[in-house]
Amino acid sequence: MNAKVAVRAERPGDRTAISDVVRRAYAKVVHSDHREHLMIERLRGTEAWIPALSLLAEMSGEIVGHILLTRAEIIQTPSSVATLALAPLSVVPEHQRSGVGKHLVAVACQRASELGFESILLIGIPSYYPQFGFEPLSRYPITLPFDAPDENRMVLPLQQGALDGVAGEVKYARGWLDH
Ligand SMILES: CC(C)(COP(=O)(O)OP(=O)(O)OC[C@H]1O[C@@H](n2cnc3c(N)ncnc32)[C@H](O)[C@@H]1OP(=O)(O)O)[C@@H](O)C(=O)NCCC(=O)NCCS
Repeated sequence: MNAKVAVRAERPGDRTAISDVVRRAYAKVVHSDHREHLMIERLRGTEAWIPALSLLAEMSGEIVGHILLTRAEIIQTPSSVATLALAPLSVVPEHQRSGVGKHLVAVACQRASELGFESILLIGIPSYYPQFGFEPLSRYPITLPFDAPDENRMVLPLQQGALDGVAGEVKYARGWLDH
């Protein structure tokens, strides 16, 4: 990993730069709807938003990557379980494949754990996330409220056994879905 990459929480004034980084990162992604930056805008200011978990990667003062974790819930009886949804993850094209994404995911997982969260869910590239400990969501009786290929559904328990006995459907924050 490039030693000059620093990760920090988003600050007021970073909004436009984040939108730009996200748009550029997803511009050529075939399965993208190119609306990921709008999802961030919708979530910002909702109850799902955790300021410490909107993280930027900076190199020489330039923002080159961003990761967002927002609150979600696994609905079960009698009490629902708090979780986090990871999306989007963005690295600008000219800095991709040099470790920036890895650094962002590792720091985000560490911060989430320090904040007391017990798990992180995502829908993403199946070959990328196992290196951080993400497992197939199909190992757990946890369902999503929309269709996504099994191989893209992943979860990271942040402590051993964090999802033992957890069963239910994920409820994403208002603003997470595009409707
Ligand atoms: C995916 C992404 C976040 C990875 O960040 P990164 O900084 O480029 O990647 P890292 O340097 O941390 O890791 C590199 C490794 O990740 C894997 N990887 C990166 N992008 C990948 C992709 N699109 N598909 C499959 N594997 C990928 C490869 O194994 C790569 O190793 P290699 O260079 O030896 O092939 C970044 O490429 C990106 O922003 N892509 C566009 C947006 C996107 O697809 N976001 C993620 C959606 S789940």
